[in-house]
Amino acid sequence: MSTSQEAGRGAGEKVYIFDTTLRDGEQSAGIGFTIDDKLQIARQLERLGVDIIEAGFPASSPGDLEAVAAIARRVRGPIICGLARANASDIDAVWEAVQHAETPRIHVFISSSAIHMAQQLHKNKEDVLEMARASVARAAGYCHEVEFSPMDATRSDPQFVYELVEAAIAEGATTINIPDTVGYAIPEEFSAFLTELQERVPNIHRARLSVHCQNDLGLATANSLAGVLAGARQVEGTINGIGERAGNASLEEVILAIQTRRDLMHVHTDVNAREIYAASKLVERLSGMVVQPHKAIVGRNAFRHSSGIHQDGVLKMRETYEIMDPSAIGIPSGDSIVLTKVSGRHGLRARLEALGVTLDADEFERVFAAFKEVADRKSEVDDRDLEAILSEQTQQQVEASWSLDLLQVSTGDRGRPTATVRLIDPDGEAREDAAIGDGPVDAIYRAINRVTGVTNQLTEFSVKAVTEGIDAQGEVTIRIEADGTSYVGRASDTDILVASARAYVYALNRHTAASR
Ligand code: KIV
Repeated sequence: MSTSQEAGRGAGEKVYIFDTTLRDGEQSAGIGFTIDDKLQIARQLERLGVDIIEAGFPASSPGDLEAVAAIARRVRGPIICGLARANASDIDAVWEAVQHAETPRIHVFISSSAIHMAQQLHKNKEDVLEMARASVARAAGYCHEVEFSPMDATRSDPQFVYELVEAAIAEGATTINIPDTVGYAIPEEFSAFLTELQERVPNIHRARLSVHCQNDLGLATANSLAGVLAGARQVEGTINGIGERAGNASLEEVILAIQTRRDLMHVHTDVNAREIYAASKLVERLSGMVVQPHKAIVGRNAFRHSSGIHQDGVLKMRETYEIMDPSAIGIPSGDSIVLTKVSGRHGLRARLEALGVTLDADEFERVFAAFKEVADRKSEVDDRDLEAILSEQTQQQVEASWSLDLLQVSTGDRGRPTATVRLIDPDGEAREDAAIGDGPVDAIYRAINRVTGVTNQLTEFSVKAVTEGIDAQGEVTIRIEADGTSYVGRASDTDILVASARAYVYALNRHTAASR
């Protein structure tokens, strides 16, 4: 066994990487990407070099159709795909959205398991077979790239899956995707299912075989790799593994496993692995789904060593305890430039470049101003501080929005927590109010609500220390729900009450912008 660190290109057959962060990833409870968020992520996926971007589910809302269309028009390189149920109007909506892509794809799915057909679709096998035939034929009338998925395949009668797959290929499907929709499969079983499918479907050689694994039992990556070893040449997944319930296969894990264990996998991807870390950070920032510290590949601790024995080994030779080179994933080494309050624009720009961040002039000035504020309060601003600053300053800026001008909070173990806030309203007028609450954050939110008058529900509030030590910045992520949509706001400050207030104002601004 070797722990090769070469680029991962060129060895064995290619495995196509299908990214569904913007479709299945967005189905995570609590995520609602704006069109601008989706475009930013799609551009990063383009840099990452994924082969297919599933940009959305156009029939689900006019906004999603618009987002998929914007990506199809502006992103070049990857195939741009949209998801459709097996009906004419969904397929037409996908085509409307993806038709301007360099290479468009329509992804049609229909459930094949007895439980889904009976309980959800109220259809029998004949109906489902006919719907699959008709919809794949319709999609193939629009474009060459047509993907077909029998949903809940791993809990379906295998004979029926073979029948559906054969019919879909006969009607023009060029990719056959086998979803483990509820994350039920075990790797050996999934591999046997795919092997059998390839033996039983006579026209399977006319399509590329794909796998789409959910993570309900924590097996999404393992099942995806088992799928590749069984002959699948497309893997679907998301950045950071976000997605329905416990999420999807984490693409960075799949890509790095293929690359690191090339000795066993005998395949390659064409992904530019150096862009993985930047993709992970961007998705974390825009989705508000915080990456757990021990997450494989992209977690904060994934390449940190704490035990003396491990530190000793790594200092003597990195490979003693690291099977991957963090720099090959784009993780910045972080020690050449130390940023402090005396650092200038030059130093900050160099550090941002090392982090793979490019900003326009306005964004850079905002980030520089925020950096100076933090540097005034901390002896050293490290990469994690910078990421927190970027997270706040590069979230979609909303024109004519509210901003926090003053915050005063009185709290303690006696009396009621009280907050006074002054906000600048969208017309530039200062408006002030105060409220009491169950705690200081509650008091702040009530006071802000009194000023802005926006009806909403706070559905999530999380605070994490960005760095260690007493002067650490706290990063607050909040999610509110208003008019049936959720909006995320993030802010960081050495004072977590200030960060809480600013994060709340950002989320309200996103809601205001969306309601215009
Ligand atoms: O999980 C699933 O089955 C899906 C299909 C639409 C591929 O997301």
